[in-house]
Amino acid sequence: MSLEAVRAILASARSIAVLTGAGISAESGVPTFRGPGGLWRDYRPEDLATPEAFARDPRLVWEWYDWRRRKIAEATPNLGHYALVTLEKRAPDLTLITQNVDGLHPLAGSRNLLEIHGSLWRTRCLSCHEVRDNRELLTRLPPRCACEGLLRPDVVWFGEPLPYELLKRSIRAVEGCNVMLVIGTSSLVQPAASMAGEALSRGTPVVEINLDPTPLSERATHFLQGKAGDILPRLIA
Ligand code: APR
Repeated sequence: MSLEAVRAILASARSIAVLTGAGISAESGVPTFRGPGGLWRDYRPEDLATPEAFARDPRLVWEWYDWRRRKIAEATPNLGHYALVTLEKRAPDLTLITQNVDGLHPLAGSRNLLEIHGSLWRTRCLSCHEVRDNRELLTRLPPRCACEGLLRPDVVWFGEPLPYELLKRSIRAVEGCNVMLVIGTSSLVQPAASMAGEALSRGTPVVEINLDPTPLSERATHFLQGKAGDILPRLIA
């Protein structure tokens, strides 16, 4: 029943907002953060994903990001990523807001994409502030900029604000949509975790797709339990 109801909502929607998390990349072999085998089970975020940790030991932080880059470089988008590309082509207006830094959405072909937590495939120089794409196999850790400044991954670390422009565009998409899809996120990390609540408070239907219930599931208009790579193609077909 829910699947059919959601298909009907999507088919008639003028504007769709989609929020994704690590769960949509799980079927591509990319570890999530909090699930079984999740990164935060083996590592402490405060040691690896904060500006303080980077100031303390940039080499350690880069060793971890370098490991993630090498692992993700082998990954390819899955049916869940591609289903969202199809939906974007079909819907009059769709904004894809992702917390993922793995680059699999753009690789699949998503266009109207807001990478609100940044990307593993970009670096930022702490001296000249240059931000540039960087898919190189890093031979020197920590890597240095052409200006010899220290490079950091262009991602948002705990305790750092989201890029203002991306946050503004995300909120605008959530406020203006007819339906919001929330896919593969534990709905625990702010401000992304508040976006569905904003949509619900406006009477906008929110559809959650997740392997397991989350703090959002009871409030969501529809909760479709299962793998994103299974459910999304059926919703879009
Ligand atoms: N299909 C759908 N959902 C899945 C799948 C799957 N195949 N596999 C796992 N999930 C769900 C899990 O049940 C969990 O609710 O995906 C969610 C992943 O949650 P987290 O690991 O907490 O990842 P996420 O919500 O994206 O984390 C948010 O926290 O660590 C920071 O900056 C990091 O962007 C990240 C943010």
